[in-house]
Amino acid sequence: MEQLVHHNDLMKFWMSVTDRIPWYQKPTKAYGIAEDGLNHWFPDGKLNTSYLALDHQVEQGRGEAVAIYYDSPVTKSKTKLSYKELLESVEKMAFVLDSLNVKKGDTVVIYMPMIPEALVSMLACARIGAVHSVVFGGFAPHELAVRLDDCRPKVVITASYGIEVSKIIPYKPLLDEAMHLSTHKPESVILKSRPNLEVIMHTGRDFDWDELMETAGRKKSVPVSSADPLYILYTSGTTGKPKGVVRDNGGHAIAMHYSMEKIYDMKPTEVFFAASDVGWVVGHSYIVYAPLIYGCSTVLYEGKPVKTPDAGAFYRIIEEYKVKTLFCAPTAFRAIRKEDPNGKELSKYNISSLKYLFLAGERTDPVTYDWACDLLKVPVVDHWWQTETGWAIAANMMGESPLPAKAGSATKPVKGFDVRILDEEGHELKNGEKGNIVIKLPLPPGCLPTLWNDYPNFESSYLSHYPGYYLTGDGGYFDEDGYLFILGRIDDVINVAGHRLSTGEMEEIVAENHSIAESAVIGIGDEIKGQVPIAIVVCKDGLVIDQKAIDSDLTHRIREKIGAIASLKAVVFVKRLPKTRSGKILRKTMRKMIDGEEYSIPSTIDDPSILDEVMDAVRLKMLK
Ligand code: COA
Ligand code: AMP
Repeated sequence: MEQLVHHNDLMKFWMSVTDRIPWYQKPTKAYGIAEDGLNHWFPDGKLNTSYLALDHQVEQGRGEAVAIYYDSPVTKSKTKLSYKELLESVEKMAFVLDSLNVKKGDTVVIYMPMIPEALVSMLACARIGAVHSVVFGGFAPHELAVRLDDCRPKVVITASYGIEVSKIIPYKPLLDEAMHLSTHKPESVILKSRPNLEVIMHTGRDFDWDELMETAGRKKSVPVSSADPLYILYTSGTTGKPKGVVRDNGGHAIAMHYSMEKIYDMKPTEVFFAASDVGWVVGHSYIVYAPLIYGCSTVLYEGKPVKTPDAGAFYRIIEEYKVKTLFCAPTAFRAIRKEDPNGKELSKYNISSLKYLFLAGERTDPVTYDWACDLLKVPVVDHWWQTETGWAIAANMMGESPLPAKAGSATKPVKGFDVRILDEEGHELKNGEKGNIVIKLPLPPGCLPTLWNDYPNFESSYLSHYPGYYLTGDGGYFDEDGYLFILGRIDDVINVAGHRLSTGEMEEIVAENHSIAESAVIGIGDEIKGQVPIAIVVCKDGLVIDQKAIDSDLTHRIREKIGAIASLKAVVFVKRLPKTRSGKILRKTMRKMIDGEEYSIPSTIDDPSILDEVMDAVRLKMLK
């Protein structure tokens, strides 16, 4: 893959792809300081992302083409929306938001299940230059409240409930609780009612989606600056405060369009199925924006890879909608393999339309990779990216110059990403040597220009460790052929079933139990979910300890505060935690020992016998 090493080549290259989309005002320069005082791509360009995704597609003659295939096994319903129909709904919702006093630059939180109205809401915000922040439905009220306080939305859009396999998730009551907990109180709530559940409406604050839409006019898209924020998406960092990743309009639109062709090898009107959730970055980029900006049909799937109703669900969708590219987290295929290892379900469907399976969100283990290759008989592409970048940093670019794949590798950096491996002192490492993965600045279009209202945190989290480079937070190496291998996080972030969570935050929650003196929460390997958290805890001296009660209290607290997706796999009670002489807990060493990986015990360890004690306690607990 050709790499762009020189600054001028890089600028010329990105300028050359700006013609891919229509602009209200074409950019005259590739990169520079915009009105907000920060560096952005195409800083003097003006565009509207909702226009690109809708009006422009209709103008290209795709008005009757399907924009969204909504497929919901949990409600036993299916619908399709053409580009024209989607445009009409978005125009109306944009009108509604405008009449609720949402103006350009205002924020709107979207807390919704996987229903078309979630996409309509996102695109309606983009249409009027409002900044949306979608919060994943699996997060508990406390997490939602933290986000409400950080981005201070004027309006929240929600639905009465979502369905998880067969369990009702009561979104509106959860939102009410979050709004009770938050300091910031949004002015209005828009509720999409779903059948068979009455919810309490607060007069003067809560409005019914259907009623508002019935009388709504239509709102045209407004030009926004390329540098203006399109959305904020919160992601876990190392503390309890999530990071508000900002996505600007211009760079994002270019990255989305470019990636659909060059990475995913798509053509307009073909069908893309990203089996994620709109609450995650994969959902933002590849359920909503990229497929629509590129004129494809997107599948919006309100279900699971298994149990809704069985492990054949993805294959059914591929057959029914003639999906060309499927994108999901490896955990989904591990779950399918567990239930249907020999592909009995697959044999019931015709999946000849499928050309690629793309995997991301966590490491693809070679066993799952080989199994999926053998079963599906299409290229399985492991690609590596993060909420912060919004699209793949490393991938096999199937629409550009596909390379022979290597199991366990995300192939090579995507054109425009200058990836290096550095040691702790900032020296560049040779192929084969493991270190911290960084990206030389500037980051390509689509990547975050800052954190919401917190440039200092952006700098200290990502830029100050190695001046001139963005710290990805992942460790890895290039092999002798220049293929990139991702080894996992170097910080306190873990990936549970493709969901990014902070162990630092979990430790803060564990500390709220008055019996706990200190703890280490670490993510350990799990056959299906990739990683699951365990808490290794030390109780205060002099207390009568009821381990069973503490265990259930900690598990309950983490579910209550973060959400069910974060539940602890085990609580291990120990007398002391292994530390260095300066007091740093040896989390990484413990994790590697538990997972049976190669590890080295730091020479600065305070008392090696503590590590042995803790490992014995963990083994004993895991055997139970
Ligand atoms: N809203 C509310 N609750 C949710 C939720 C959501 N959107 N998603 C998950 N949960 C809850 C589940 O109901 C479950 O609760 P429970 O413990 O009370 O039963 C808990 O969180 C754990 O769920 P999950 O992580 O989904 O585990 P699982 O064992 O039910 O299913 C998989 C395992 C692999 C099938 C499932 O994790 C999966 O589909 N993963 C793919 C994830 C994905 O697409 N990630 C996107 C990244 S690209
Ligand atoms: P998120 O921001 O939720 O997308 O999570 C990003 C993190 O997931 C990355 O920093 C990696 O640790 C991990 N990740 C994503 N894709 C891959 C991949 N293909 N291989 C290994 N790890 C991955």
